[in-house]
Amino acid sequence: MGEQREHFASRLGFIFMTAGCAIGLGNVWRFPYVAGANGGGLFVLLYLACLLLFGIPVLMMELAMGRAGQSTFPGSFCKLKQSNVPWHKPAYVLFSGNLILLMFYTTVTGWLLFYGTEFLIGGSRIYRNGYFGEFIGSPGKQTVFMLTALLITVLICMGGVRKTIEKSIKYMMGGLFVLLAFLVVYALLQDGASAGVKFLLKPNFAAANEVGFANMLHAAMAQAFFTLSLGIGSIAICGSYIGKERSLMQEGLWIILLDTIVAVSSGLIIFPSCMANGIEPDAGPELIFVTLPKVFENMPGGSILGVLFFLFLAVAALSTLVAVFENLAAFGMEEFHWSRVKSCLIFGIALGVLSMPCIFGFNLWSNFHPLGGKSNILDLEDFIVSANLLPLGALYMTIFCMSKSGWGAENFFAEVNTGTGQKFPVQLKNYMRFVIPVILVLLWGIGIVKIFF
Ligand code: ALA
Repeated sequence: MGEQREHFASRLGFIFMTAGCAIGLGNVWRFPYVAGANGGGLFVLLYLACLLLFGIPVLMMELAMGRAGQSTFPGSFCKLKQSNVPWHKPAYVLFSGNLILLMFYTTVTGWLLFYGTEFLIGGSRIYRNGYFGEFIGSPGKQTVFMLTALLITVLICMGGVRKTIEKSIKYMMGGLFVLLAFLVVYALLQDGASAGVKFLLKPNFAAANEVGFANMLHAAMAQAFFTLSLGIGSIAICGSYIGKERSLMQEGLWIILLDTIVAVSSGLIIFPSCMANGIEPDAGPELIFVTLPKVFENMPGGSILGVLFFLFLAVAALSTLVAVFENLAAFGMEEFHWSRVKSCLIFGIALGVLSMPCIFGFNLWSNFHPLGGKSNILDLEDFIVSANLLPLGALYMTIFCMSKSGWGAENFFAEVNTGTGQKFPVQLKNYMRFVIPVILVLLWGIGIVKIFF
């Protein structure tokens, strides 16, 4: 691709696509239920601290590698390394995280489209107890909606970076923020909403004792990673489509700010609504599917809100699907010299097939518990990506950027600070060299211990 690599038409296009890649199920589905299960306020503070302590530095490395390498993740390792060490080989394994992430992301996005459609069609069945269970018990219905999400994604990516990806993500993000503002105001105006705001924002030390501080800290770290999709190169692709006019720190801060606004606002929609309707906020992954229909049932105009709410969630998820799928499309174009359309078609078909195990995990293969307990295939895929590839990928990238046989700290700092705007402090070099790797090893280690012991 070299010289002809496509670039975004505008700075806003870049910020929205990168924010779109970050803003997704992690913000609107995972953040509220993880915050709910971890007692709210204190978890949120820890999460914000994690974004500052390692979210920003790792985001800087990914964007800088993408921009300097003008390539997908493995290609950037290959181009930037300063020695003959085959740094790029493990990067292929890490990069596979994009595919594994999408293998369950397509399914959950399908659930959102299904719920949006159900609210649109109307009828009271969606409020029935056990309705979510009935839905995920049907592989046929899930497949139809999963394929719909995938088809939208593939069609957008086929059009190219400037022509369709940048434009559609701009509309998606614009629509997302309008829906978000409306739903937050609506949720906060309900009687009893203040208890939900308190739950989300006020540190609750009793919850820390109950859940265990180490567990809460780990959940906050994992959430910070997942929400920024750091470590597998998904964000690096956005860096590879920009020029050197602006330094990366300012852009990174915008991205993290937008991502955080969406996560906290989702909490401000969900918890006040739960509290105002007497529903416990700690239902876990099913929170939005099982408890929220009950919330909408009790509201005047609830079915319209249901459509808007699930539309909002689906748009957030689709923007991530598009940005992460673009990694796969670009990979096919670079590594195998396929045309964009061919690459999108091949990866689209492959992803359609590879998304089926996640769906079957809720019905045909529901007796298979890969991680013990009640775990299913989605949990396994999420575990591979969130608990392993994301932290290990970030660790690998940090070592690469900071070591002489890799890219080297000087090269990294020169790249990240090229262009006008806020600079990333060079004084952080030792922090990045010695502290961040320790944090990342801890994050990974606690995750493994939690699952297996
Ligand atoms: N960063 C993506 C999300 O938050 C994976 O959903």
